[in-house]
Amino acid sequence: MYCCRKVTDDLIWVGANDRRLAMFEGVYSVPRGVSYNSYLLLDEKTVLFDTVDAAVGTVFFENVEYALSGRHLDYIVVHHMEPDHSATLEELVRRYPDVRIICNQKLAVMMKQYFTFDVDAMCQIVKEGDTLSCGAHTLTFVNAPMVHWPEVMMTYDTTSKALFTADAFGTFGATNGALFADEVDFAHDYLDEARRYYTNIVGKYGTQVSAVLKKAGGLEISYLCPLHGFVWRKNIGDIVNIYQHWATYTPEETGVVIAYASVYHHTENAAECLAVRLREKGIKTCMFDVSVTPASEIVAAVFRYSHLVLASTTYNAGIFVQMESFLHDLAAHNIQNRIVALIENGSWAPTSGKLMRGIMEGCRNMTILNESLTIKSALKEEQLTQLDAIADAIDATIEKKTEVTPIEPAAAAEAAEAVQTYQPVLDAAAMFKLSYGLFVLTAKDGQKDNGCIINTASQVTAEPNRVTIAVNKNNYTHDMIKKTGVFNVSILSQDVTFDTFRHFGFQSGRDTDKFAGYADAERSANGLYYLTKGVNALISGKVIQEIEFETHTLFVAEVTECRILSDEASVTYAYYFEHIKPKPQPAAEKQTGWVCKICGYVYEGEDLPEDFICPLCKHPASDFEKLQ
Ligand code: FEO
Repeated sequence: MYCCRKVTDDLIWVGANDRRLAMFEGVYSVPRGVSYNSYLLLDEKTVLFDTVDAAVGTVFFENVEYALSGRHLDYIVVHHMEPDHSATLEELVRRYPDVRIICNQKLAVMMKQYFTFDVDAMCQIVKEGDTLSCGAHTLTFVNAPMVHWPEVMMTYDTTSKALFTADAFGTFGATNGALFADEVDFAHDYLDEARRYYTNIVGKYGTQVSAVLKKAGGLEISYLCPLHGFVWRKNIGDIVNIYQHWATYTPEETGVVIAYASVYHHTENAAECLAVRLREKGIKTCMFDVSVTPASEIVAAVFRYSHLVLASTTYNAGIFVQMESFLHDLAAHNIQNRIVALIENGSWAPTSGKLMRGIMEGCRNMTILNESLTIKSALKEEQLTQLDAIADAIDATIEKKTEVTPIEPAAAAEAAEAVQTYQPVLDAAAMFKLSYGLFVLTAKDGQKDNGCIINTASQVTAEPNRVTIAVNKNNYTHDMIKKTGVFNVSILSQDVTFDTFRHFGFQSGRDTDKFAGYADAERSANGLYYLTKGVNALISGKVIQEIEFETHTLFVAEVTECRILSDEASVTYAYYFEHIKPKPQPAAEKQTGWVCKICGYVYEGEDLPEDFICPLCKHPASDFEKLQ
């Protein structure tokens, strides 16, 4: 029975899933299956984009027949000749003998290598930039060599703004009824498989992927339609941003992959001891036994993290078999820009360290740390300092700590005496002499967008560009950032109206969708909303550290995007009270209570509890003043 889904009203997904395949390309395990995508455009002309693997040919042909509804198939665009997308092409030609095959010259050459039908007679060769009018839709063709084979091309539909991306933006994993990436929790459930797919299938060709991303950067894209995995129609910037990391071999996060090969657990023991030391320094670690974990998973992890520790026993005067195989695999995937530490073991002639170093030095821009460890059979107590040294060396490349000069005892005593005689003044009003700005902080969790007002956002370092925001734990946006680690700060400007404060400050996102019908917002590269009216700049942040306080979390973030939106001056806390916040109207009769200085909420009662939180804007008791 056919099983299709609409991408748009006139574009139908006619692909299929395979959950029986054990090893994709005979190399990569796919325990969660894989999808083969094909799309059918129903315009004045009908156009099929690619076919599928032979394993799912039966349902694919049912899908095409059903979606055509008796219409003639005019064109098939072939983007990639690898058989997982072209194995059923010959059968398609048999069923639709009048179909014209649209492809570039290299695709046609490969087509002749695979098939026996008259390729020259059936093909219409296109070059980069050529167009094909199908009625309402016009297609233009873009070559994408080495993403993943040399003949690959992509198609851009200038009408629907759909980009058919061949293997790019694909993922392992069957789609299980979903068609769009926004129908699943992609970051949680599929990102690891997308990374494993990219790094192992296309990872070697980062330069070529970057070239295609550059071409795509000039296009307005509403849909990314890859040959595996999901169609992207929302948050396209997210997946493009991740691809830019992968294509440039830039680590996604700071952390250490420890890959070890151990026959009798002694090398593993040294790796564990190092992992403990790194964790005690607050450094993220993940460990893999190369004899157990498939190489594709470890390769993906090495692309993800910034550091790599290789620990291997010596075997037949060389590197242990699986480690050697893994390292050649890693080098073949063109890994670059990583910091590497080495541990070797050998009961009589350890050589694996030197040999592993040789393979890593053959990769581009790898920093091999001088600190290393040689074990003869088993780790000894006196060698723990060498593990400490490796951990210190890794730590030194991650975090530059400020040296604290110890205070001389005499000076310390003098300071202590001064503290005893001086009674500090604690006037909360003094804190408001600091110049606070006002900002709309936005976040997104799955399909839910939200935003709130904050007054604490600041830059802490320019190089690298780091910012902090402090967010009240009662705010829904706080929980979203905790979960997703990304946020936008829209800096409010003096042309902002009180409505913006009322909208984002006086209601909770738990009860309402603040962006439903909200016209003055667009999405930035990270897929989150930012405001476009009453603001002068956007800052996008990716959280790298969190510090907990009683009422607030301080998020430290790297800046992933920052741009000017207008020349208006920023709103300060003082400007807000002076010019934006409506002045209280004379009360008809005198009230007893406390008024929130932020939103105007009135607490009725003589005594305001110290731990009171404003139910509207979530500000604490210190932001209330007594009604006069
Ligand atoms: Fe999905 Fe390169 O084939």
